[in-house]
Amino acid sequence: DMDRFIDALMKRMTVEEKIGQLNLPVTGEITTGQAKSSDVAKKIEQGLVGGLFNLKGVDKIRDVQKLAVENSRLGIPLLFGMDVIHGYETIFPIPLGLSCTWDMAAIRESARIAAIEASADGISWTFSPMVDISRDPRWGRVSEGSGEDPFLGGAIAKAMVYGYQGANLSDQLKRNDEILACVKHFALYGAGEAGRDYNTVDMSRNRMFNEYMYPYEAAVEAGVGSVMASFNEIDGVPATANKWLMTDVLRKQWGFNGFVVTDFTGISEMTEHGIGDLQAVSARALNAGVDMDMVSEGFVGTLKKSVMSGKVSMKTLDTACRRILEAKYKLGLFDNPYKYCDPERPARDIFTKEHRAAARRIAAESFVLLKNDSIGLHPGSLPQPLLPLKKEGTVAVIGPLGNTRSNMPGTWSVAARLNDYPSLYEGLKEMMSGKVNVTYAKGSNLIGDAAYEERATMFGRSLNRDNRTDKELLDEALKTAAGADVIIAALGESSEMSGESSSRTNLDLPDVQRSLLEALLKTGKPVVLTLFTGRPLTLTWEQANVPAILNVWFGGSEAAYAIGDVLFGDVNPSGKLTMTFPKNVGQIPLFYNHKNTGRPLQAGKWFEKFRSNYLDVDNEPLYPFGYGLSYTTFRYSDIALSTPSMGQNGSITAAVTVTNTGKRDGAEVVQLYIRDLVGSITRPVRELKGFEKVFLRAGESKTVSFKITPELLRFYDYDLNHVAEPGDFDLFIGGSSQAAGTARITLK
Ligand code: IFM
Repeated sequence: DMDRFIDALMKRMTVEEKIGQLNLPVTGEITTGQAKSSDVAKKIEQGLVGGLFNLKGVDKIRDVQKLAVENSRLGIPLLFGMDVIHGYETIFPIPLGLSCTWDMAAIRESARIAAIEASADGISWTFSPMVDISRDPRWGRVSEGSGEDPFLGGAIAKAMVYGYQGANLSDQLKRNDEILACVKHFALYGAGEAGRDYNTVDMSRNRMFNEYMYPYEAAVEAGVGSVMASFNEIDGVPATANKWLMTDVLRKQWGFNGFVVTDFTGISEMTEHGIGDLQAVSARALNAGVDMDMVSEGFVGTLKKSVMSGKVSMKTLDTACRRILEAKYKLGLFDNPYKYCDPERPARDIFTKEHRAAARRIAAESFVLLKNDSIGLHPGSLPQPLLPLKKEGTVAVIGPLGNTRSNMPGTWSVAARLNDYPSLYEGLKEMMSGKVNVTYAKGSNLIGDAAYEERATMFGRSLNRDNRTDKELLDEALKTAAGADVIIAALGESSEMSGESSSRTNLDLPDVQRSLLEALLKTGKPVVLTLFTGRPLTLTWEQANVPAILNVWFGGSEAAYAIGDVLFGDVNPSGKLTMTFPKNVGQIPLFYNHKNTGRPLQAGKWFEKFRSNYLDVDNEPLYPFGYGLSYTTFRYSDIALSTPSMGQNGSITAAVTVTNTGKRDGAEVVQLYIRDLVGSITRPVRELKGFEKVFLRAGESKTVSFKITPELLRFYDYDLNHVAEPGDFDLFIGGSSQAAGTARITLK
């Protein structure tokens, strides 16, 4: 049916109209790149546009769709794209935070709700999920992905694609509240040198396939309808023109049958990369397997000439055009171009009570309790964990992030209603009214350097820099602190200090915030550092000096309530880090699944001459991958194996009993790591190979078992064959990547 329909349509299309389908201009409404597109309406009527992005509102989208359907010669409907990255108007935590839930059902639900809301407002296509593995927290875009691990990243990629497109592969995108997903940024965008955005990537095939590729492949397995090319080069050829990547790997090896779109001006940027003029790079991109041109207008401006001169074959152009038309067909737009333009839906489906309740629950699940010391709260009182706080007395919220609504949703929340939810201070006040007296002082600006602060608060996310002097701000804060029983220090990054084009070389708390924190600690009052951040920061000083640290990332529109839920104990934190927190920037890249080297540092030592280590800091992270505390404690039994060895068709079950040994109910993320002891190539010291989040009442025990098959033990060997080599493997099961419990298995 689809093939016949498209054959017939394409027979009627001119070369210009075919090229037009490959053109994706941007509206000027939302800024996600430097260039703007011009004469968009006219081009739509001429059949020179395949889709449009960054237009918000069902009425506007309906009007533009009408231009295409009624005023263009063939009436082909448009795709409407948007960066719906972690929610639409109801905003969920930034993806790095979401990943720390380790809760695939919750992540899928967040994407499902995002799809419901976006589709209600006319959007049929989202530029998500972003699945770039990242090991360098200097890179601002670590906030948009799922951290450093490919196994977890792959599971999350699938959960998100299912959330957007539907979970049943055979009838994805049938409903009018399911939208096309776009896995990005293909490929290796997270591995830019020195953590600088858009920078060069250079990596062995071996590392690519064993450590970086799986999440993209997993999205393809889950049926993702589109793929976005990354900005970086791979083996000296920008991804946007890399035929090996876009055709050999993506289509031939993985069987992808959707379409590939460039990133914003990805084609024209290849002239800056230095591989040719717009005419040449546009042809090269199409020939490599790229189908749609985001904003460059390289295709629409040059391809006809390339077809005429034989630089691009008609067949290649037809293939790309067909892929775009197929996506529109699968979305049902030929049946009903207004499928996503029901004017009744926005009021019914967007920013609803139910969606906001889900966002609040999931936000609380994303927070990671990094530290919770026991302290004597009053002279002579017994030490007890500082968190959760009692619902009594006076709590002072102090810090430049304590009362800023626009900062709550985090980066890439382009559809957020920045004023329709509370700041932390406002939220806590509302929640605790009649119980806790909540006070507030700003305490400091975000960053001492005003110019740096301006760069870090762009695009409507200004924090209203205070003109008072540092001393005046501090004096006010100390006065507020003096009247409080507990201080919640709301510090960290502004939302635009991470995200695109927000790389940093110094990951300490900004200078003026550190001084504020020191002054607050000196008051002797208990201080809870409530840390807003889009990336791992270097918190070595804070870990040594602050009694409690709750990492709340950017929790979305309901973040304030979710923070209140956790700080005051209505929700027991269960988030676990998905990116290593280094002790200092010099340790970067620091990740748990590293190789052993020929001169590893011996366990328990931190320096030995002629070993792989540093003179000035040990090799350990401040907080490892998988780490996160709870208000309760968990005990793990030894690992019980169904059998210690298996053949190539066999399997082994590894089980542990986990007990909640504390006084509160809570959830634990049980993690399985495996080390391949001997390989034909070197193998990581351990790799995540399973996880399960279990909820345990106080005192309760549950058995968690993992099925280990040869499939799980496969890796890409020197020749890139995906093999499970016979030999011994060590298993570790526990609550972080430093899990101690071990057992040995053999693959025969
Ligand atoms: O989707 C984004 C991408 O992640 C970065 N550049 C701009 C695109 C569209 O807004």
